[in-house]
Amino acid sequence: MTNDGEPVTSANTARPDVDWDERAASFDEEPDHGLRDPGVRRAWDGRLRGWLPGRAGDVLDLGCGTGSLSLLASEQGHRVTGVDLSPAMVTLAREKLAGRDAVFLVGDAAAPPIGEQRFDAVLVRHVLWALPDPGRALRHWTGLLRPGGRLVLVEGVWGTVAPVGIPVERLTALLAPVAGQARVERLSDDPLLWGGEVADERYAVVVVTG
Ligand SMILES: C[S@@+](CC[C@H](N)C(=O)[O-])C[C@H]1O[C@@H](n2cnc3c(N)ncnc32)[C@H](O)[C@@H]1O
Repeated sequence: MTNDGEPVTSANTARPDVDWDERAASFDEEPDHGLRDPGVRRAWDGRLRGWLPGRAGDVLDLGCGTGSLSLLASEQGHRVTGVDLSPAMVTLAREKLAGRDAVFLVGDAAAPPIGEQRFDAVLVRHVLWALPDPGRALRHWTGLLRPGGRLVLVEGVWGTVAPVGIPVERLTALLAPVAGQARVERLSDDPLLWGGEVADERYAVVVVTG
């Protein structure tokens, strides 16, 4: 349980006070983390296919965790760079994508250590809301994209007793001065993504830059 009395779920585990190294070993036990159930995996695979570029490209997965979405992106033909603050998460991601065209780095998602490299897509799931300055992170990430590149942001507001997260209106308002037209996809009503029904707000925002 978290200290506000809510159960630990795939969502509220994104809290900034979490010890991610300590969580890494059990992280994939949540259906939408490990994607171990074929139905859940298929659901995320289908969504990701619609969000990422149609042609193979370079994808930067920030706060990549154990690399589950990185693996889907790699299976879809993309070259992946994953960045996570937790060395234990990075170790698991490297194991998960061993032998693939993928690189994993320990670093801050807000300022990823990727030098001059630029990407066709920056993918961020369940991380942005917990960063100290999400607006600044969005501005930085937009600058990491090649022309025509896209931001793929999967976020939400989790829990009912003491909800945490970022409402879609706030995220799109932060994006407005930074990037082009944002496409919002509501995800709460698709239980296949979560391994069951959910009652809270979950969504993806995709922005394709000019
Ligand atoms: C809820 S998990 C999401 C993992 C992955 N994106 C996924 O959807 O499976 C949050 C991840 O963000 C990482 N994280 C938290 N703050 C970070 C930061 N400032 N920079 C990089 N990674 C961070 C944690 O270590 C953890 O792996």
